Amino acid sequence: MLIRTERSDDIEAVRQVHLAAFGGREDESRLADRIRGSAGLVPELSLVAERDGEIVGHMLISKAELVDGHAAEVTLVLAPIGVRPEAQGRGAGGALIEEGIRRAASLGYKLIFLIGHPSYYPRFGFKPAVGSGLVLMQFDVPDDVFMVRELAEGELDRLAAVRKEKYGELKYPQTFFA
Ligand SMILES: CC(C)(COP(=O)(O)OP(=O)(O)OC[C@H]1O[C@@H](n2cnc3c(N)ncnc32)[C@H](O)[C@@H]1OP(=O)(O)O)[C@@H](O)C(=O)NCCC(=O)NCCS
Repeated sequence: MLIRTERSDDIEAVRQVHLAAFGGREDESRLADRIRGSAGLVPELSLVAERDGEIVGHMLISKAELVDGHAAEVTLVLAPIGVRPEAQGRGAGGALIEEGIRRAASLGYKLIFLIGHPSYYPRFGFKPAVGSGLVLMQFDVPDDVFMVRELAEGELDRLAAVRKEKYGELKYPQTFFA
């Protein structure tokens, strides 16, 4: 299996991956299309998983903001990720996440956030963000599904030490709500 950067001629196959992965629901394929056309896109972090010449998975990691009072810094969010149902459980999702983490770290980013299954993402180093004084106000989700992965060791402690407000807030860009 090959993990590589998405190309423009992959886009239709990627749409079909998300449609199949999410049971025909269009929300995730549309979200991927919107992110691709937005300022939040980091082209190297739109990854496909290819097996025998066929695209079986896709994952996007794109820009969001971490807000502390009036100050905001760029951070990353992982969404969407999907693997075709017949290809699930064979490591494509894990390989996409691991390559995304590796690339994001080498690009100099410090954190990746996501909203996801608490039984799946901890194996890749994600943990609940609330424990580090970070909150998500835009979505009403249980604390354990709002997760963060440090790319630089000690980054969450460093942020907590310099924080001016009681909590830091992750803010997804408007792209996620359009
Ligand atoms: C989640 C997903 C991307 C994982 O991709 P994958 O290629 O199947 O993952 P891998 O083969 O690397 O890992 C398989 C593991 O993921 C687990 N897993 C898959 N879907 C899961 C889910 N919805 N909740 C919890 N665990 C899940 C499997 O149980 C398996 O765990 P095990 O190794 O302990 O048996 C894929 O299953 C998928 O596209 N699901 C539908 C869309 C979706 O839910 N996307 C994520 C939204 S948060």
